[in-house]
Amino acid sequence: METVSDFRRPSRRAVVGGFTSLGLLALTGTLAACGRQNEIQLAAAPATSLPIPPVADSRVEDGIRVFELEARTGTLDLVPGFPTTSAGFNGPYLGPTLRAERGEHVRVKITNSLDEVTSVHWHGMHLPPEMDGGPHQPVAAGSTWEPEWLIDQPAATLWYHPHPHGETQRHVNLGLAGMFIVDDADAPEGLPSDYGVDDVPVIVQDKMVGDEGDFLLDSSGNEVGTLGKTLLVNGVRNAQLEVASRRIRLRLLNAAPARTFNFTFADSREFALIASDGGLLTAPVPLTSIRLSPAERAEIVVDIEPGERVMLRSAGVELGAVAVPAAFGGDDEFDVLELRAAGELAPSSSVPETLASIERLREDDAVGLREFRLADRKINSKDMDMGRVDEIVRVGTTEVWEVRNTNPYPHNFHVHDVQFQVLAIDGEEPPPELGGWKDTIYLEPRRVYRIILRFGDYTSSSVPYMYHCHLLLHEDEGMMGQFVVLEKGEAAPLRISMDHDH
Ligand code: C2O
Ligand code: CU
Repeated sequence: METVSDFRRPSRRAVVGGFTSLGLLALTGTLAACGRQNEIQLAAAPATSLPIPPVADSRVEDGIRVFELEARTGTLDLVPGFPTTSAGFNGPYLGPTLRAERGEHVRVKITNSLDEVTSVHWHGMHLPPEMDGGPHQPVAAGSTWEPEWLIDQPAATLWYHPHPHGETQRHVNLGLAGMFIVDDADAPEGLPSDYGVDDVPVIVQDKMVGDEGDFLLDSSGNEVGTLGKTLLVNGVRNAQLEVASRRIRLRLLNAAPARTFNFTFADSREFALIASDGGLLTAPVPLTSIRLSPAERAEIVVDIEPGERVMLRSAGVELGAVAVPAAFGGDDEFDVLELRAAGELAPSSSVPETLASIERLREDDAVGLREFRLADRKINSKDMDMGRVDEIVRVGTTEVWEVRNTNPYPHNFHVHDVQFQVLAIDGEEPPPELGGWKDTIYLEPRRVYRIILRFGDYTSSSVPYMYHCHLLLHEDEGMMGQFVVLEKGEAAPLRISMDHDH
């Protein structure tokens, strides 16, 4: 299934456990066998019907919608006889889908039942910095954190995941992640919206699985981090989804640590892209493939014929001017999710021609320009320092940021608190799939991404927001900076205090 050309040596643990496959290698005399280990597991895994993360229970207390999440460890059954140590929220792997409507106040009671500190970040959410769940809001083992905020942004597919300083990759890789769907009365009628039936969360992750079942992180020195050979969708291999209606909406989330996917259907059929990271596009965009780098989301609607089976795949992905595309997963092709249509399908309405109105942020309104150069594990030549204020932004202002990747390998760029718009890539208008709200953007090497952001509502001179590369190895290794949003005229802090109360 997956090509093996990019296979890098797994970490020492996997190599030790890999003597049997080296034996096999000697027997078969084929180099490819070395990289096939997980492919065999993949092929041997029985087809599994796609688990749908449950919608999290909530109750309304004094006008606030309250959710409860508990981070805990668990096990998965991927290699017979060798349970995989995993972690999840309210279960052994991943977490429930949180769902709330624009205008609601929400509170999430998060209990950390792990034996180490973690945090929970609301990726894509506009909220006060104290509630953001980044490295400045650690949740100690055994303790509870209760962030509370007003949902005030358009309908969107957001997600949540740990963000502890330097440990994000390990926590997410264990399975700590979930979706957060924002609903909005302004969203148009006619989109498939029956959760888990024709409106389906699709959380995609590639895993490096050792012979003893454990989730490994690649320590071979691949610049992007860990590219695995076991593909999990909502936590299972070889996922299949029974489809009962003519159109299905997939909410695709790249929750992988390093891999950029290029989602497409096996028969190259057209689908409609209806939403990017921060919500619906103005109009559906017909596409045959969509590239998503780590943390990006896309909502697509695809037409289905009665009785057919169609495979959602990831095909070779255009990574831009990277040195060796194959080393970064650029040539990999593999199945993601099989759609199996019933013999008779319920009718679905056609996708509305107008989905949302998006106010274009205007460059003329921007008060300034900032430049961000991503190279090695630094942004603007600086390593992450939790005490340092890298950028000072004034509330209510619009800014243009110019972001570039000067390495010959992939990076991307994520900004907390805001959704931004892409003005230009190398001076050219962005492709239509980048025409809506974004919070994370893939950076092809040596190109200039000009984005426009407006910072509203929340200020703090003591708690910063983050911007960073969302390749989790890079993020953990310091490819992150901090900005504070201040009132007009408010004095900037010299250092961020590290006295955290939770
Ligand atoms: Cu998805 Cu700063 O994170
Ligand atoms: Cu990076």
